Amino acid sequence: MNFEFILVENQYAPQIALVRLNRPKELNALNLQLMLELKKALQDLDEDEEVRCIIITGNQQAFAAGADIKQMENKTAIDLLKIDQFETWDQIRKTKKPIIAAVSGFALGGGCELAMTCDMIVASETAKFGQPEIKIGIMPGAGGTQRLTRAVGKALAMEMVLTGKFISAEEALKAGLINKVVPEELYLNEAVKLATEVCAMSPIATRLAKESVNKAFETGLQEGLFFERKNFYMSFTSEDQKEGMSAFVEKRKPDFKGK
Ligand code: HXC
Repeated sequence: MNFEFILVENQYAPQIALVRLNRPKELNALNLQLMLELKKALQDLDEDEEVRCIIITGNQQAFAAGADIKQMENKTAIDLLKIDQFETWDQIRKTKKPIIAAVSGFALGGGCELAMTCDMIVASETAKFGQPEIKIGIMPGAGGTQRLTRAVGKALAMEMVLTGKFISAEEALKAGLINKVVPEELYLNEAVKLATEVCAMSPIATRLAKESVNKAFETGLQEGLFFERKNFYMSFTSEDQKEGMSAFVEKRKPDFKGK
């Protein structure tokens, strides 16, 4: 399959696959096609016996600045329900091989959620993590309220989700959201180093261990995700969603009315 919005590379080692999100002009905003391509690439890599570890990255400016607001702007809750993009996210989460997110620049909204869906996160000093959906009149919908809260605790998660504030890589490290922070020129090398360590282990034990750690993390998560999803759809019934997203596209401040 030819991909338009991602690149699949393996220049580091045959056992390490690098998937690069590649919509640089839009800061790698995650449109539906990109997510479908990512799902397909991960399924292929999961089946490829030679590959033992996968790295997902963006570029220095952005891992991903969130789901594509322009694509969502005029959607209704029912449109979203029918598109059912979360099936794609669920498939990505089910990838059996370990995935490392190598993050530089913005990891916001769906971008932060995608990084959190991975198994480990290596970040450049310039990385910024955030769930700014509240600023465009909606809320996180791909696990943000659940995974972020489990990773960093209620206080910081609540602050990030309610104010949309970004945290630095250093803060994310202290809060337990990510594994490592390194200078910008080294973040990809550092992810490859970590992947190399993972590749040296038994692939079977690795698969079982990944499954088990996720089990500890996810018990109760399905219920939380289901709940979150309904509320995410619900936020698209509000006038504030239309206002928040139009304001973003028109490059002006939103005027929220609470309707
Ligand atoms: C669509 C986006 C985008 C996005 C950036 N762009 N983020 N397009 N969806 N999420 C586009 C901009 O419109 C612009 O295109 C170009 O990328 C560069 O962005 P700028 O805003 O000019 O860059 P800058 O001033 O450096 O600001 C960077 C930024 C800002 C702080 C990251 O772009 C921003 O706030 N982006 C939105 C972040 C966000 O709200 N994410 C959550 C989305 S909702 P043009 O053509 O205008 O030059 C979400 C829900 C997930 O993720 C639900 C589950 C799927």
